[in-house]
Amino acid sequence: MTDASPTQKLPIGVVISGGGTNLQSLIDRALDGSLPVEIKLVVSNNPDAFGLERAKKAGIPTRVVDHRGFGDRGAFEEALIEVLDGARVELVALAGFMRVLTPLFVNHYAGRLLNIHPALLPSFPGLNVQQQAIDAGVRFSGATVHFVTEGVDAGPIVAQAVVPILPHDDAKALAARILQQEHRLYPLAIRLFAEGRLSINGQRVEIQAPPTEAGPSLLNPPEGA
Ligand code: GRF
Repeated sequence: MTDASPTQKLPIGVVISGGGTNLQSLIDRALDGSLPVEIKLVVSNNPDAFGLERAKKAGIPTRVVDHRGFGDRGAFEEALIEVLDGARVELVALAGFMRVLTPLFVNHYAGRLLNIHPALLPSFPGLNVQQQAIDAGVRFSGATVHFVTEGVDAGPIVAQAVVPILPHDDAKALAARILQQEHRLYPLAIRLFAEGRLSINGQRVEIQAPPTEAGPSLLNPPEGA
């Protein structure tokens, strides 16, 4: 797994399709020094994504790889890989990227491809998940950061945040409260990756204590605790 010492920032690429509020949270945390990454490139499949403006404002290079210009998913993904690898990124963070990825892309970035999803996976994968959670009558939803494997919104879970569903919530209100948590959760998960503290063990992600901390930590309590 990739390691980044305090002086060395992990080069990452962020792939978006839309407004980019999660991208903004990564930009802000990278700027204030609490996230040890350098965002090398922001790629969007949508030329009108507002996230591209956010990146430009922060001086981050942007590329548009418009899926509509390609004959099939494979050709689109080859082009995405070319721009991301060209920027020498070591982690790819999907942040509101609205295309389903095939094994071609997912396997190329195996173990270094993260996604954020606005529900508590494995419940409610797919689209319109805030409405789905309300309709199902669950009391809690939330956000999940996970490694991406084959399958829609599937893969080992790195971190989750729980958001209660309130009696009069509509999908918009719930989505807004979940987004607030996403903006906290994604930088945290990427920080753990950048610090080399994540390892995938089957379906589970193990989180190592920070190097300075000796012995068991809150994240990995001792057996039986
Ligand atoms: C977020 O809710 C994210 O979890 C989902 O799409 C939304 C993107 O929001 N995949 P933004 O573009 O980061 O504002």
